[in-house]
Amino acid sequence: QPKRLADYQPPSFLVSKTDLSFELDPTATRVSATLTFQRNGAGIMILDGQQLKLISLRLNGQMLTDKDYRLTEDSLEIVKPGNSGVLEIVTELNPDQNSALEGLYLAEGVYCTQCEAEGFRRITYYPDRPDVLAVFTTTIIADSSQLPFLLSNGNKVSETLLSDGRTAVKWHDPFPKPAYLFALVAGDFDCLTDAYVTASGRQVSLEFYVQKGALSRSHFAMAALKRAMHWDEQRFGLEYDLDRYMVVAVDFFNMGAMENKGLNVFNSKYVLADDSSATDQDYFNIESIIGHEYFHNWTGNRVTCRDWFQLSLKEGLTVFRDQEFSADMGSATLNRIEAVKLIRTAQFAEDASPMAHPIRPEQVLEMNNFYTVTVYDKGAEVIRMLQTILGKTGFNAGLKCYLDRHDGQAVTCDDFVQAMQDATGQDLTQFRRWYSQSGTPEVKVQEHYDATSARLTLKLHQHTPVTADQTIKQPLLMPMRIELLFSNAGSSMRQLLLLSNEEQEFQFDGIHEQPLIVWLEDFSAPVKLSTHYQPEQLLLIAGRATNGFARWDAMQQYWSLLISKAVTGGLLPQLPAELVSLFKQLLQQPLADIALTAELLALPDFDTLAEQYTEIPVDALLSCLAHLTQQLAEALAIELTACYQRFDSIAYHYNEQGVALRALKGRCLHYLAFTNEGEHWVNQHYRQADNMTDQLTALKAAQYAELATSNSLLEDFAKRYQHNVQVMDKYFSLVATTPNDAVFTHLDRLTQHSLFSWKNPNRVRAVFGAFSQRNAKQFHRADGRGYQLLAQIVTKLDPINPQLAARLLTPLLSWQRYDQQRQHLLAGLLKALAAQASLSNDVFEKVSKSLP
Ligand code: ARG
Ligand code: ZN
Repeated sequence: QPKRLADYQPPSFLVSKTDLSFELDPTATRVSATLTFQRNGAGIMILDGQQLKLISLRLNGQMLTDKDYRLTEDSLEIVKPGNSGVLEIVTELNPDQNSALEGLYLAEGVYCTQCEAEGFRRITYYPDRPDVLAVFTTTIIADSSQLPFLLSNGNKVSETLLSDGRTAVKWHDPFPKPAYLFALVAGDFDCLTDAYVTASGRQVSLEFYVQKGALSRSHFAMAALKRAMHWDEQRFGLEYDLDRYMVVAVDFFNMGAMENKGLNVFNSKYVLADDSSATDQDYFNIESIIGHEYFHNWTGNRVTCRDWFQLSLKEGLTVFRDQEFSADMGSATLNRIEAVKLIRTAQFAEDASPMAHPIRPEQVLEMNNFYTVTVYDKGAEVIRMLQTILGKTGFNAGLKCYLDRHDGQAVTCDDFVQAMQDATGQDLTQFRRWYSQSGTPEVKVQEHYDATSARLTLKLHQHTPVTADQTIKQPLLMPMRIELLFSNAGSSMRQLLLLSNEEQEFQFDGIHEQPLIVWLEDFSAPVKLSTHYQPEQLLLIAGRATNGFARWDAMQQYWSLLISKAVTGGLLPQLPAELVSLFKQLLQQPLADIALTAELLALPDFDTLAEQYTEIPVDALLSCLAHLTQQLAEALAIELTACYQRFDSIAYHYNEQGVALRALKGRCLHYLAFTNEGEHWVNQHYRQADNMTDQLTALKAAQYAELATSNSLLEDFAKRYQHNVQVMDKYFSLVATTPNDAVFTHLDRLTQHSLFSWKNPNRVRAVFGAFSQRNAKQFHRADGRGYQLLAQIVTKLDPINPQLAARLLTPLLSWQRYDQQRQHLLAGLLKALAAQASLSNDVFEKVSKSLP
């Protein structure tokens, strides 16, 4: 019963006005919906609805009876709706029992909704599809002594005290919107307010609703919102359009945040922060997600998706926008490095897995399964390539054309590319394949230099291997940014090549010496590149390339090469002398870009290396990494110590310089933990820390080096932060990444912790997400204990929260990437899962795809 893109049909009925009234009650909330509808084409009137109790139904004022409608598990058909009219539907729901956190749910005394993608159908019967846009008016009725804040989209129209003592608050959102952007929140909060004046002079009231007592931790998010509003005006000329912008932070939430019109709902993890509880990474995430949801107001809300296959239309584009925002707020190089790491680990892995899909999927059983790193992050890479091909000016013009043309509409990815094409005149026919073709393209490069004719010839070859979902692959149009480095330091030439054929040659004349070529500056296309560099050439690039990303990338390639030789030879890698001297130099004289220095000094992570192998040599990679860390620590102990001591700790402040300095000192500490004085350095770092970043750095260093002090530091940490659940999640994750056998008893103990709840996705992810994604050593144990545990957890969670269960399941799907023994273990677990009765669609779709 999966849905297909090819089967899209316009809705047979539209709804122009949706009036909702909620009488809130924990176990029996009443929803009255009044829908003003018009026929839009041939076909029956069928409304979506799930887990609803239908109380009554009226058409144009007339009560309908059994024979006037047909009710199924997930739909309501109105037999004779006529061509237009008013339908009144009364349903009843149980927010308290809703642990799936979709639709309307009650958690920790707060009523909250999550409607994207298909959650609105758990609130009332409705054409729950993004191409039905209505103007919503929402009335919330509740006891305001218990629920002082009754919020919904748009502008507040009235607040009335009813004769029975309850309060009715009415909201009106003037912008037509699909049901997935509807939101309702009711609860008691602390509220931080501020104001923003848009470029054209609109006064906007900004309101953050957070848990009681957390007001002081919401200032950073508020400031980030103002920066985002300003940035979008400057960069794209886009302004906010309502009088109020509300953000609510809740601890029970399935994902990061949701861009409901005028009323964003956030996972509190991405709002609350102060210097003693948030890391640099937390601050970064908050700013970028606040930006992301705000940017959706134009790319997502004003112009939305025709159907859910088009999800990347809003998500890929909005991730791109938030990345550009973050790059402008901090270090562009560091941002690019982090984005590329994610593509090379999670996205490449997804393309190689049974869940492979194009950024515009063609077939979906459970939409929640397609909020993926492919749709979001590869989607953003595709937008970035457009900007590279069209230039910033062309891209900005294209975006303007897209938003002008489609404001108020629900459109497709094709409409977007068409606007880009029309605004710039660039033919993007071939480029559209990025939307329909899944898989990671592999690009091979060859160079030939002829001294007599002073001609350099570059030959490129592209090939996309077949994926689980698609066998035929075609060449893609991809922008390749390169730099030619000449022997005279400082002399170079930068070029943009457009590769469109399977095989293509590019010639450069008047090249008087053989250059060293830096390929794929800034990761200008999301591909796997294979080159024929000698290790020394990579070190040269790392030292000389103009593009910071390219320098880091050369170092990563250097390590990959060294490690793959060792793995093939069945040996442990030895540190080459040139590497040691380069690292010494970096430590003694860090680059002006300190953040880049810290990245250059890092080994690739396990997941990055893993993606370079068809069959992942788990044990060999882990021992190579541990061995190299140890060797670096020993060879560089003096320089590491000097570098570590050279930068005095300055009082904590989240800014580019502070982030960079902490990263560099943290990198030194990571290695120093492996020296004889490891305990000393780590203890000192932990004790002197005036911020969360440094504390966590110390804890992680102690854990990875398996220092004796690790446990007592962790205990101290847990005691200190027992009252801050966001910090306790960090503690949970740390414990879950214990690199030895003890982790299994620890995990068991964590699930008994007073703060732990199977119903809270943040807690479950903190424990089991960390275990399965950041504890390769124990998760991938050859005896299968790690895999078994995760399968058990998925089984336990599926009836509670299928979305969460299906997400946690992901690492098990890549079973074909491991050795025979692990394959056997994983396949057995997947089969056992598949054999279970009453699996959710979420888990079923993934498990069934992964079995032959
Ligand atoms: N649109 C939200 C965002 O900003 C995410 C919604 C995720 N929904 C889901 N069902 N997983 O990215
Ligand atoms: Zn989004």
